[in-house]
Amino acid sequence: MKAAEIIKREGLAEVVLIGNEDAIRELAAKENANIEGISIIDPSKSEKLEEYAQMFYELRKNKGVTIEQAREIVKDEIYYGTMMVKAKDADGMVSGAIHSTGDLLRPALQIIKTAPGISTVSSTFVMEVPNCEYGENGMLLFADCAVNPNPTASELASIAIATAKTAQVLCGIEPRVAMLSFSTKGSAKHELVDKVVEATKLAKEAAPELMIDGELQLDAAVVKKVGELKAPQSPVAGNANVLVFPDLQAGNIGYKLVQRFAKAEAIGPVCQGFAAPINDLSRGCSVEDIVNVVAITAVQAQGMDL
Ligand code: ACO
Repeated sequence: MKAAEIIKREGLAEVVLIGNEDAIRELAAKENANIEGISIIDPSKSEKLEEYAQMFYELRKNKGVTIEQAREIVKDEIYYGTMMVKAKDADGMVSGAIHSTGDLLRPALQIIKTAPGISTVSSTFVMEVPNCEYGENGMLLFADCAVNPNPTASELASIAIATAKTAQVLCGIEPRVAMLSFSTKGSAKHELVDKVVEATKLAKEAAPELMIDGELQLDAAVVKKVGELKAPQSPVAGNANVLVFPDLQAGNIGYKLVQRFAKAEAIGPVCQGFAAPINDLSRGCSVEDIVNVVAITAVQAQGMDL
């Protein structure tokens, strides 16, 4: 409620709140949030329900969904919001402050699907680390910290390229992408390292115009002296501003370590690869986090041919 008030006041986006209207108004009053002039849609009372149910049925009937099931499914707030985006009744959706990431992503993966030419949906966090000289004066992108539990080499390559593009479009920076591992340029041998080496090769082949290198340990990726010592030929080592983690365990733990221990602002997760902007929040998010992610969603929507 408080985020909606700020977004409206600052003109960042036109907000539609989805849920039970009485409950929303009651909560806004209790929290002293002014949601005057903000639309509220209760899916179960919506006149669009049947239209969305038919659309959802058409999209998922080959997966065994019946029209009766579709009518029930689209009453769910997240399915309803995702259908609004699919039907172009909204330009993007932000959710997840009270839902798990899986609950938000599954409808979007089923309904919105990937953008043309992209096979993997992933996510990135824009990390702003105070008093830090690494990356772009303390700003770095971390990926994938929220979506793909155990990406293949090819998925990892796709995550690296998508994150480089997000760095360009959203942050206006020239991406220098480090493919992270516990090994730097062959210092360790293991099948987990092999995956990162293969992903680096695939990413370089698919996007030769981008500065991508690996496999690099974190210190070799961001600390100039260590980069020069461990990977002297690398155009990225010591200077990376995009960090691609080998799997979700590393990525999710990594961003939370920096967020909590270094008191960094973690903006995101920003989803990448969907055909329309759908973004998630962490259940530990603040009002400011919600405002930030809505602003990012609005920027993504402007950059997409919706
Ligand atoms: N990119 C593109 N398509 C995908 C992806 C992907 N990354 N993952 C799944 N799909 C597709 C599937 O092929 C399937 O398509 P279809 O139904 O049309 O055939 C559809 O999406 C649904 O796939 P499911 O297999 O039903 O979904 P799954 O159970 O794999 O769930 C999910 C996908 C939700 C992304 C899952 O991988 C997940 O839960 N990831 C971890 C999320 C999480 O818990 N993150 C950590 C917390 S986040 C935080 O801390 C901020």
